[in-house]
Amino acid sequence: MPDRDLLVTWMKDAHAMERALIPVLERHAEQADARPELRARLERHVGETKRHVEILERCLQRYGEDPSATKDLIGRASGTLQSFATAPFGDRLVKNSIADYATEHFEIASYEGIRAAAERLNDDATVKDCETILEDERDMARFLSESLPHAVDTEIRRDR
Ligand SMILES: [Fe+2]
Ligand SMILES: [Fe+2]
Repeated sequence: MPDRDLLVTWMKDAHAMERALIPVLERHAEQADARPELRARLERHVGETKRHVEILERCLQRYGEDPSATKDLIGRASGTLQSFATAPFGDRLVKNSIADYATEHFEIASYEGIRAAAERLNDDATVKDCETILEDERDMARFLSESLPHAVDTEIRRDR
């Protein structure tokens, strides 16, 4: 595949992934009522994720691509992301946190790949957009890393 087409494919995958993540994050925010700080951070990341969708749409449009054509990819992306995020466990707070923490790293890897491809193509605008998004994802991953032990504490206390 020509380099340009590969970059477009990866950006479409990322666009589908971000769109699939919005309802997952919204649900996890609702389910985090026992931890108001986590809930607020998840709600904020819903907003950030919506912004990532818009940024990717602008990136795709610069390549003359129609972002609405990524609809078919969404089902595939959400299957991967929700694999163990829907179970009705008593330890849902921890399970959700682990899934969200892993997802942020999946996003980080995706954008590092897209950024590398954009660098090869001298596409400075896309490189910059990836860096903007990566900042949000890294910040969220850091928050989830720090909040995971607190989620564990909440579930352990509930169990007693
Ligand atoms: Fe994102
Ligand atoms: Fe994210």
